Amino acid sequence: MPVTVSLASRSYDIAVGSGNLNNAGSLLASFKPVSRAVILTDVNVQSFGYAQSVAAAIADAGIDASILSVPAGEQSKSIETADTLWQTLLEDGTDRKAVLVTVGGGVIGDLGGFVAATYARGIRFFQVPTTLLAQVDSSVGGKVGIDLPNAKNMVGAFHQPLGVLIDTETLQTLSNEQYLCGLGEAVKYGESLDAGLFEYLEENSGKINRRDNEVLQKIVSECCRIKAQIVSEDEYETTGRRILLNYGHTFAHSFETMSGFTLLHGLAVASGAMCAAQLAVKLGLIDDALRQRFEQLHKSLHLPAEIPVNINADEAVALMQHDKKTEFGELNFVLPTGLGQCKTVKCTPQTVRDSVWG
Ligand code: NAD
Ligand code: GLY
Repeated sequence: MPVTVSLASRSYDIAVGSGNLNNAGSLLASFKPVSRAVILTDVNVQSFGYAQSVAAAIADAGIDASILSVPAGEQSKSIETADTLWQTLLEDGTDRKAVLVTVGGGVIGDLGGFVAATYARGIRFFQVPTTLLAQVDSSVGGKVGIDLPNAKNMVGAFHQPLGVLIDTETLQTLSNEQYLCGLGEAVKYGESLDAGLFEYLEENSGKINRRDNEVLQKIVSECCRIKAQIVSEDEYETTGRRILLNYGHTFAHSFETMSGFTLLHGLAVASGAMCAAQLAVKLGLIDDALRQRFEQLHKSLHLPAEIPVNINADEAVALMQHDKKTEFGELNFVLPTGLGQCKTVKCTPQTVRDSVWG
């Protein structure tokens, strides 16, 4: 059964399966009229043949399909790449009945979604995420955008896709580091929002480390179900619900910035989650036994499990004060209040420093 993101006329399904890239043709054909499909991918993903499989399936369904490829990596989430893509779409005669299909990780989903949101005042797009991070998080929920030179995700829009097609087989070719990044986000959902998922991750750590495809399908489906529910309740992040997806993120963003963005996001989130758990213990929101249970799961999955000791605490806290979520000098954190439960809590910079690094 697909997971549905319920958003009235913008509702869509997330289909999770294995070896199902050839379903892209029938899925796209169901959104007719479709004048053509433009598949956006990166050169790395293209080398594994995923974009070609999606293009062939769409062509088999009778829809003209072409592939556009950009360099792999965060640097492609730029205004220069978006500009090149807008120009190419125009030169290729792309009209408003065309669909842009993103085949790749979060960079391709965010960039492609942004180009689709803006070209011709908005065309439709369809997500085929191929990293674990994109499958459990970025392909769902309609946040699309590009980076400014010193500000990640600063220019963007909310633009929901027509649908999401997930093939967990694609995860077998991910590097170990990229796989761990996605696991960091999956663990985040378990710790902060869903006790059942947390327990499933605990019980299946060996299979997760071996990338067991059946277990991965279950984890991806569960993460999508959790995110779809929250996005359905708070699409534009205005009611305080969607912000709960940011557990561990206030710490993580400062660690990423301090590393000059060499520390990968999902690994920073795993460290950030442990900091949030430590802060929650000090504030009396959870007991230390639960924090230790989180730590144990991180260790079993080879995720960062400790508070990063080599981080300059004053610098980290100063960076957090520049976070978008700072209000009147107080920092806003999403902190655990039990297994699979969390809430937003305001904290002074001094309390954070003393609780986490004191
Ligand atoms: P990415 O897209 O750069 O992919 C990571 C690397 O994996 C790339 O080199 C890519 O070529 C490669 N890759 C992709 N699929 C592969 C596969 N199946 N096999 C082998 N290699 C593969 O990065 P990411 O981690 O997927 O996404 C990070 C981006 O997502 C960031 O820009 C972040 O801001 C964004 N993001 C967005 C949201 C959102 O809600 N929109 C949420 C979280 C993160
Ligand atoms: N990744 C957080 C969100 O989509 O809101």
